[in-house]
Amino acid sequence: MNHRLLFVCLGNICRSPAAEGVFLHQLKSQGLEEQFVVDSAGTGGWHVGRSADSRMRAAAAQRGIVLSSRARQIKLEDLKTFDLILTMDADNLINVQSLAKELGQMATAKIKPMLSYASKTSVQEVPDPYYGGDAGFEEVLDLLEDACAGLLAELRSKA
Ligand code: 4NP
Repeated sequence: MNHRLLFVCLGNICRSPAAEGVFLHQLKSQGLEEQFVVDSAGTGGWHVGRSADSRMRAAAAQRGIVLSSRARQIKLEDLKTFDLILTMDADNLINVQSLAKELGQMATAKIKPMLSYASKTSVQEVPDPYYGGDAGFEEVLDLLEDACAGLLAELRSKA
């Protein structure tokens, strides 16, 4: 199996870098990192080039997860180079779907809400923690650990 996954949120400094880091962490613990290409991007471009938010990095580090990505904005080409694009909330989903529409037949990536892979929650969107307190970052990581485990299990079962 060789999977190319792109995690997408709004700013690419909180939720999608965390999703990327959590997923990579799970891949490493299962010895599977060679079989995946994993990246993240934002639908917006305000934070391009920045490290993940320091609060998000600190919360992830507490769980042994290193977030090392730099923010970038999603581009049309991503819709053909990645197999699966995972969106954090409904706005991200609409924005990525509209990019796919713009690209037309060349857009081969599947686009799915990240929490469609979660099994421990009925929450459907990863809440934006940017303007909230520390608990928001923990909630994001709890949701993402659950969804990443479900995603990886599904991809492995199809291999
Ligand atoms: P993210 O969080 O989409 O999870 O990276 C945000 C980060 C920054 C902003 C919004 C959301 N902002 O408006 O600057």
